[in-house]
Amino acid sequence: MSSEIDQLQLEAIAALEAASDPQAVEAWRIEYLGSKGRLKDMMSRMRDLPAEERPVFGQRMNALKQSLEAAFESGKAGASAAPAGPPIDVTEPGIAARGGKRHVLTRTIDEIVEVFGRMGFSVAEGPEVEDEWHNFNALNIPDDHPARDPIDNFFLAGDRMLRSQTSTVQIRVMEQSPPPLKIISVGRVYRPDTHDATHYSMFHQVEGLCLDRGVTMIDLKTVLFQFARAYFGPEAEVRMRPSFFPFTEPSAEVDMKMQIRGQWQWVELGGCGMVDPNVLQAVGVDPEEWTGFAFGLGIERIAMRRYGISDIRHLYENDERFLRQF
Ligand code: DAH
Repeated sequence: MSSEIDQLQLEAIAALEAASDPQAVEAWRIEYLGSKGRLKDMMSRMRDLPAEERPVFGQRMNALKQSLEAAFESGKAGASAAPAGPPIDVTEPGIAARGGKRHVLTRTIDEIVEVFGRMGFSVAEGPEVEDEWHNFNALNIPDDHPARDPIDNFFLAGDRMLRSQTSTVQIRVMEQSPPPLKIISVGRVYRPDTHDATHYSMFHQVEGLCLDRGVTMIDLKTVLFQFARAYFGPEAEVRMRPSFFPFTEPSAEVDMKMQIRGQWQWVELGGCGMVDPNVLQAVGVDPEEWTGFAFGLGIERIAMRRYGISDIRHLYENDERFLRQF
């Protein structure tokens, strides 16, 4: 019985290969797969078999039916494609596949890490859910400082909060490793804010910390201006403006000339300064021996300047027409 099935299969395949036009293929289908066809006929012989042989026979016949149906489908295509449809011009340009790609912010982050990496900074990480010690106390931010206002922070249960700045990572790194240190840290920060072209309640910062013997403000300015030139090009306009932060002394704000909705203007990129001795003492570093500079810059604004994006909200709308441009 089993050899008869094999025989039927061989014959059927040979006959299908010989069928050269759609009519012949259809005639083949009727002969082998039709309701009065040879498979049906063979199937009817199951009755004559002893009961224990029937399951195996049934399985083999099913497999044969499936393979002949598949052969018929591809034979149909083969027999009809050539004479019917239009000739295919294989020299025509293809249709490019649209693959996925990195989000423009991810790309900006990778590039920032690369530029600072060339200046000798390694990458450190810290948690987005923080405690008040790392977000405020250790950074010399007093209890009554306006930066702690619940209206300006996302507080969670207990003394937990979504970090409002990546300066938290400076503290974590200094708690874990002794100087000298030269790190950047990139990540999300959270502040309740009204969304407009340059503000969003979640954004990204790149934090830098360089701690060593004899580090000065000149080193800070050099690193920031070198970064701007390397990343935006020689025409980049950056300035430092005296300012105040509890965790640096002296402190400065970093501005960059950029186009917002068609207008060139100075936009604040972030802050910087020399690490305040109180901060060093909070993490057990001797400020008589070590000095350092720190900075924190907004990554969305860097991306906007670099890629000519005029509204921060575009970055979070996930509109493919926007994202595909980069
Ligand atoms: N953490 C500050 C902010 O989010 C930015 C900043 C200012 C970071 C001065 C620093 C710094 O490291 O030294 O507004």
